[in-house]
Amino acid sequence: MSKKLYLITYGCQMNEYDSSKMADVLAKSHGYERTQNPDEADLLLLNTCSVREKAQEKVFSELGRWKDWKKADPARLIGVGGCVASQEGQAIAARQPLVDIVFGPQTLHRLPELLETTRALRKPAVDVSFPEIEKFDRLPEPRAEGVTAFVSIMEGCSKYCTFCVVPYTRGEEVSRPLDDVLLECAQLAGQGVRELTLLGQNVNAYRGRMGDTADLCDLALLIRYVAQIPGIERIRYTTSHPAEFTDSLIEAYAEEPKLASYLHLPVQSGSDRILGMMKRGYTRAQYIDKIRRIRQARPGLSLSSDFIVGFPTESEDDFMRTMDLIAECGFDCAFSFNYSPRPGTPAANLRDTVPLEEKSRRLHILQQRIQQLDDAFKQALVGSTQRVLVEKVSKRGRGQIAGRISHNRMVNFDGPESLIGRFVDVELTEMQPNSFRGRLVAEAVAA
Ligand code: SAM
Ligand code: F3S
Repeated sequence: MSKKLYLITYGCQMNEYDSSKMADVLAKSHGYERTQNPDEADLLLLNTCSVREKAQEKVFSELGRWKDWKKADPARLIGVGGCVASQEGQAIAARQPLVDIVFGPQTLHRLPELLETTRALRKPAVDVSFPEIEKFDRLPEPRAEGVTAFVSIMEGCSKYCTFCVVPYTRGEEVSRPLDDVLLECAQLAGQGVRELTLLGQNVNAYRGRMGDTADLCDLALLIRYVAQIPGIERIRYTTSHPAEFTDSLIEAYAEEPKLASYLHLPVQSGSDRILGMMKRGYTRAQYIDKIRRIRQARPGLSLSSDFIVGFPTESEDDFMRTMDLIAECGFDCAFSFNYSPRPGTPAANLRDTVPLEEKSRRLHILQQRIQQLDDAFKQALVGSTQRVLVEKVSKRGRGQIAGRISHNRMVNFDGPESLIGRFVDVELTEMQPNSFRGRLVAEAVAA
């Protein structure tokens, strides 16, 4: 009987990607199969995230819940990976004796060895080092799980925003060589993938080695190469950084039709004073200017962002600057958070001056405004015909299928399952809370 792996993932798309790689590595090395039922699992992996509040405490309370599971069969193993593991290292196993393996985002490819070590030595195996790009050389060939896929093109972050733990937990920026990225994209296309999302903490800091030359490929050029891979019809990327948003990337929006009409460009705040304290490396005016030029290159683009409210010393006036910026840029989507001090970051040394109730009040105002803009954006699309990549049978059932438009919104519509993996034209007939209802107008116009 094959061994079973139960995986719990916290956090972002990057962690989802890492989790799928953990499953691939263990399938290849030990024949582990992923299960949704913890009772039949032999190995539990917790892939953690420490970007926001109380991450450590959440991990320890989650671990506490697995005591009886482990007692039921002492051969069962528990591993903790991701950013909390990277920050805490050995301390996790010291504080919670249930834990057998501790590994970081950069050492997940070493899981097979860590598993053997803990079994042989009967003590916790810990490796939270940053062996840079070795991870990608050791990962098995990617396995497509549908018609869309993520491809990690770079790891880590060297921006050191004062509020953020990522540079400390995932290490500095390291780009994968161009040929490796293109090979992975082509392998996925060969398995039926039609849409790729290029992934990294700062994808536009990508500088991939080009063959044996000294030349480096940036994100704009990479997008053009990926667009030439047969079968790949749509390209997304996340997350990009405003300070590295180059003219060539703006040009790509004008010239590369396979690049999706959706951009997530975190701004965090609309106040120059707060942006300076956050060490973001751009001003409000510079951000607005980039958005203006991107919109010129790609009219109708869907624009998303990240916001932090209640950064230390943020005044009502600073917050209103953020609200003005929202109006000026017209974001139709956003991820927004109350500021929370992250241990080990420079901002954690500042006094957290904005009371929680005030942070929450500002967050509520901001989220309501974004919701209005989202509704208006979606309303304007009702009646238009959009190209949809059919991804799956709709959760709504009754003969419906579902897919995404270029602007990253889901559409549900009547149609046969045989269209999964095809691009079709769909008229958006109705706006729903998190999606559209549509009507199929033309089948398989591409791919
Ligand atoms: N690379 C991205 C960028 O250019 O900003 C950010 C990646 S970060 C992992 C994801 C988001 O988490 C950030 O954009 C920020 O809004 C939020 N975040 C990070 N640290 C935070 C903190 N200490 N408190 C609240 N939100 C935080
Ligand atoms: Fe974090 Fe700033 Fe990098 S938010 S991931 S340090 S760009």
